[in-house]
Amino acid sequence: MAIVSAKEFIQAARENGYAVGGFNTNNLEWTQAILRAAEAKKAPILIQTSIGAEKYMGGYKTVFNLINNLCNFMGITVPIAIHLDHGDYEAAKEVIEIGYTSLMFDGSHLPTEENFKKTREIVKLAHAKGMSVEAEVGSIGGEEDGVVGEGELAPIDDAVEMIKTGVDFLAAGIGNIHGTYPKNWKGLHLDHLKKLSEAVDKIAGYKFPIVLHGGSCIPDDQIREAIKYGVAKVNVNTEVQLAFHQATREFVLSNEDLKGKNYDPRKFLKPGVNAIQSAVEERIDVFDSANKA
Ligand code: 13P
Repeated sequence: MAIVSAKEFIQAARENGYAVGGFNTNNLEWTQAILRAAEAKKAPILIQTSIGAEKYMGGYKTVFNLINNLCNFMGITVPIAIHLDHGDYEAAKEVIEIGYTSLMFDGSHLPTEENFKKTREIVKLAHAKGMSVEAEVGSIGGEEDGVVGEGELAPIDDAVEMIKTGVDFLAAGIGNIHGTYPKNWKGLHLDHLKKLSEAVDKIAGYKFPIVLHGGSCIPDDQIREAIKYGVAKVNVNTEVQLAFHQATREFVLSNEDLKGKNYDPRKFLKPGVNAIQSAVEERIDVFDSANKA
């Protein structure tokens, strides 16, 4: 079993032109399905939870123990990072204490200077424990109270400043948003990504990994282009939720759930859980991170 920091395997992805998946989990079955997919594909991955999902699942310690124990029980051999997604300052400190192997400190809603300052503090604490750190500049939109954000472009100067805090990978808006994309979405701004990536590479002195949030429902060719220009981690949540929902819905609408003992949650959830595994495996193929473990 291999619970590790994400630093080395994301850096390897950036240097070799592929990306690893940061897959959000929601419960026990979700976590098992993601782990099965990673092992089947021989792919390094991050299993991540937002603060909301952490609360839903019973807190950071529960999530940490769940992933850790499942990796042991399932005999997982591929590198797995236990990652906090969009953590605030308190959440970041808590997972550093608990022993997560990776975290995102999201100070993008703070004044820019405060974001840099707090990121520096978190980087120091996390690196002392061997954890990898992701930060964010600009902000990544999405649907909030029915208003759909367009997807902002992160200022290149802010990205360059953020690299100097010592972060290991950086989330930067390039027109991407969380959730499903509106019909009039104009696509990823790959020209902006290229410029941003070149600027941060120069400061870092090596090929620096960029994180693409809102990785669901982006056409595959755009994802592949983004990987060419510096993306080495792609976050996926909604697409896997849609796969689970669709499979469960089909199971119920076909009345299969009424047969035999299909009311048993182990049977009732099975089509949805299999769909989670397939969706994760499919994303791993698009990101080209199969057989990289
Ligand atoms: P999606 O839900 O759009 O896939 O975004 C996931 C994400 O970026 C998590 O941080």
